[in-house]
Amino acid sequence: MKYKFLTAVIVSSLATAMLVSSCGKSRGNDPGTEYMPDMYVSEAYEPLTQPEEKPNTINPYGMNMRVAPANTIARNQLSYYYPYEKTPEGYEAAKKELRMPATIERTAKTLTKGKHLYDINCSPCHGDQGLADGAVAAKLPSIPSYATDRIQNLEVGGMYHTITYGLNLMGSYASVLTPEERWCVIQYVELLRTKAKPGATEAAQADTTKKN
Ligand code: HEC
Repeated sequence: MKYKFLTAVIVSSLATAMLVSSCGKSRGNDPGTEYMPDMYVSEAYEPLTQPEEKPNTINPYGMNMRVAPANTIARNQLSYYYPYEKTPEGYEAAKKELRMPATIERTAKTLTKGKHLYDINCSPCHGDQGLADGAVAAKLPSIPSYATDRIQNLEVGGMYHTITYGLNLMGSYASVLTPEERWCVIQYVELLRTKAKPGATEAAQADTTKKN
């Protein structure tokens, strides 16, 4: 008798506790009472930061992930490695040594891509034919026309350097164009400057797939 009563009390108080905790008012995303919150809500560890009060004791700077060693290059990203510095010496060295990678063969496809990217990113200043007559050119008189000796004689390495770092009033396109895209744009710039060359023949102007 005594035990029956005790069991009834335990069962009914458990049932009440469950009712109280599970039924309440709807609370949107709130799951109600959680008995072991750590099981549901695990601590969010960010890979490169750590809450100050709980620094990681193994890695330097209390971080959860180790910083990659200097000059690490992510897999398949070798083309992002650019050894020339943003200095006049780096620019001269790029002009002298840097050439279009053999993997980026000039085809109708790369030229079409180059034209597409040029029309979006470059034509507002350089003009759709590279004659420095884009909408912005009226405000920026220092934009060189591709018909000038300066651009006619510019090595592709210099173009790549300028597109990567920018030059005076021209900004850097490193965050906009991948290295491959930069070379595609350069192929199109080369085509435009052939067309813009003073005294260029019709044949040179029409030739869009000529290899370098
Ligand atoms: C905001 C206008 C602007 C845009 C957009 C722009 N440029 Fe330029 N670009 C300039 C100016 C100005 C110069 C001349 C910089 C100087 O010599 O002071 C220049 C110079 C150049 C040169 C000659 C660089 C050298 O080393 O002598 C090339 C090649 C060139 N731009 C290509 C491009 C390409 C390709 C794009 C698109 C990805 C582009 N530009 C976008 C303004 C622009």
